[in-house]
Amino acid sequence: LYALTQDIITAILKMNYNGVNMKKIKVSLKEKSYFINIASGALSKSGSIIKKLNIAKACFVVTNKNIASHYARKLNLSLKKAGFDTMFYNTVDSEKAKSHSSWYELVKRLAAFDRGRGACLIALGGGVCGDLGGFAAATYRRGIGFVQIPTTLLAQVDSAIGGKTAIDTDFAKNLIGAFYQPKTVISDIELLKTLPIRQVRNGLSEVIKYAVILDKSFFSYLEKNLENILKYDSSCLERVVSKCSLLKAGVVGADEYEKKGFRTILNFGHTIGHAIEAACSYENTINHGEAVAIGMLAAFDISVSLGITDAAGRNRLESLIIRSGLMSEISGVDPHMVIRSLLYDKKIINGIRRWVLPRCIGHVIVCNNVPADIVEKAVLKRVSRVRK
Ligand SMILES: NC(=O)c1ccc[n+]([C@@H]2O[C@H](COP(=O)([O-])OP(=O)(O)OC[C@H]3O[C@@H](n4cnc5c(N)ncnc54)[C@H](O)[C@@H]3O)[C@@H](O)[C@H]2O)c1
Ligand SMILES: [Zn+2]
Repeated sequence: LYALTQDIITAILKMNYNGVNMKKIKVSLKEKSYFINIASGALSKSGSIIKKLNIAKACFVVTNKNIASHYARKLNLSLKKAGFDTMFYNTVDSEKAKSHSSWYELVKRLAAFDRGRGACLIALGGGVCGDLGGFAAATYRRGIGFVQIPTTLLAQVDSAIGGKTAIDTDFAKNLIGAFYQPKTVISDIELLKTLPIRQVRNGLSEVIKYAVILDKSFFSYLEKNLENILKYDSSCLERVVSKCSLLKAGVVGADEYEKKGFRTILNFGHTIGHAIEAACSYENTINHGEAVAIGMLAAFDISVSLGITDAAGRNRLESLIIRSGLMSEISGVDPHMVIRSLLYDKKIINGIRRWVLPRCIGHVIVCNNVPADIVEKAVLKRVSRVRK
């Protein structure tokens, strides 16, 4: 897998975009290929970037009040300057925005604005706006032009790239969804400056994931530059977003629909991570990145138990996770609920669960089924019922 990724990684193109130094990374998907545009100041170039795509005359923007208060004006100005008719639609600022009623309301507003003109949909926000907006773009009129403008670190390095869109049901997250690629992604590093630190850590967990699964020198970079990243240093953040975009673009380009087994490696830390989120009932007590951090360590624990790796890599990861301000274990959660919800995971196919397990920092393998006692031991080590 590692060798394959190195082969498929595309180069970063650099271009001066009317005074903004834009990095452009191609996600290669034949006729569905698109560019991820990365720069401090990229937002103000959105209008002209989208104009060049020639996908619409009007833009319907899905965002929320919080994000709109910071960035709607700037985006609107850029879109208007490029000649677009615009409408901004605020959804609720929580995971509840990914409900079927919220999707239906959005589509109703979109239809009223569009009136058959061929509008495109822009998601301005984190993974919530991106997933909801993407699913609406995929389903309205069987698909309209879609643009991602991710505003969280998690969205810039992960959710905005790769075409997974979804809404939730009462009994499972992301259960209703579609693969639907954006026409372009615009990642403005400056937007991360208003992000609360907990959200930076949330994204950092996915950043660390890329380093563990694919790139040991990037892991060393994170070890060296962690404090600057946590201080919102623009050049470090740009390096992080570019690196992760490049890595994700490579994986998605090799396995768009998660059918060839390759995209599976992105689920590293997510098996137990999702189960922890489910056991916390997706409440605000723990966010996705926090759960994934614990999940990555639990996966490392499993690797150590199976003799696939030694403890040195796990200890390095644990120390980076703790320095990031993420948790390496969680208390106040019933570990048996975590173990139970591991049984109800949509990633179980024909009774087989595929585990992504590290061999060392920078290299993972995919294993089918791990003995239940080893999984339980790892969960019990990282999750405890008694609040500490
Ligand atoms: N499609 C995928 O491949 C994929 C991958 C990972 C996660 N997801 C989904 O992403 C969602 C989580 O996304 P998220 O972590 O970005 O959370 P989010 O979208 O809820 O955003 C987090 C918070 O940050 C605020 N915010 C966003 N940008 C801001 C900015 N620049 N400044 C200040 N505040 C800002 C938001 O208003 C929100 O309150 C989940 O629903 C998850 O299922 C999807
Ligand atoms: Zn994730």
